[in-house]
Amino acid sequence: MSTNLDGIYAQAEKDVAPIDSHDKLAALKADYLGASSALKQAFLEIKTLPSDQKGAFGKKVNEVKVQLEALFIQKDKEITEKEARKKIEEEKDDISLPGRNHFKGAKHPCRLIEDDLTQFFLGLGYSVAEGNDVESDLFNFELVNIPKDHPARDMQDSFYIDDNLLLRSQTSGVQAHVMQERKGIGPIKIICPGKTYRRDDDDLTHSHQFSQCEGLVVSEDASMGMLMETLTLMMRHFFGEKREVRFRPSFFPFTEPSIEVDVSCFNCSGKGCPMCKNTGWIEVLGAGMVHPNVLRLNGFDPEKYQGFAFGVGLERIAMLKYGIDDIRKLFLSDTSFLKQFRKE
Ligand code: DAH
Repeated sequence: MSTNLDGIYAQAEKDVAPIDSHDKLAALKADYLGASSALKQAFLEIKTLPSDQKGAFGKKVNEVKVQLEALFIQKDKEITEKEARKKIEEEKDDISLPGRNHFKGAKHPCRLIEDDLTQFFLGLGYSVAEGNDVESDLFNFELVNIPKDHPARDMQDSFYIDDNLLLRSQTSGVQAHVMQERKGIGPIKIICPGKTYRRDDDDLTHSHQFSQCEGLVVSEDASMGMLMETLTLMMRHFFGEKREVRFRPSFFPFTEPSIEVDVSCFNCSGKGCPMCKNTGWIEVLGAGMVHPNVLRLNGFDPEKYQGFAFGVGLERIAMLKYGIDDIRKLFLSDTSFLKQFRKE
């Protein structure tokens, strides 16, 4: 027997160990199992042996062949796995990189107030009515009891598009729209938040564009008591449970009687400070019992129905609630100002 079969496998194990690529392994495999390999030589030798040795030698040659094949298959698998691990390692995301900074917006303070106000009134069973920024003279003025030559028009001089259309100067016109839609049948319980426009002289608390929220209740039993309770709840919701609310007689063409509503100053608790101009009170909104003319003009029978209404400026509430000293800050789109209202 010239071929050392035991030595072949031992040597193959040593040669295979450092191999790290499929190409090198294939070349080595050819050395051990190919046409000019020692093993092939051993196969050729079988037929030259005496017949009593053929069986044992042939069996041994086959065993070594099977072992070698298993050795190469195993190594091939190891190389494949190693390469896959290397690839995963190379392609792995580097999570230590800082993330890209996305700009995160914030709700405008007036929208925060609007949302809060809307939620508050939805909780009291109101629904939300929508109006248009462009309104007719009829709805903006006449149907809420402000005829053509009424002096109250002077206070709400607005931006006219033509002789009939204007950018609405108040949300009160929505009262007329809603009443007309309901065709004289109550009850009505709505709020309408929205933008309004006036040719107001700009100062720290007035702007030519601002937001209001109108409220209207029409029913057979609406009363001044209900109005006062509703507004007290609203004031305490916005400015704190301890706030006192004061009602003063006032005048609005669409309400009779009309009231102006003040809240005790939350800065000085009523003692007097610059915020409340030393009066202890801050004026917040106007309200009243719906004028019978307004009911009648919009198809409701004032003998059967009564109503109350109120109108509140959202910028005013935002300025008071967040301590904003200049209304123009609300319109300047200064992100460092607006970012303060971001809720994380
Ligand atoms: N429309 C009024 C204004 O813009 C605000 C207002 C006052 C609305 C009294 C009302 C109300 O509904 O009853 O100044």
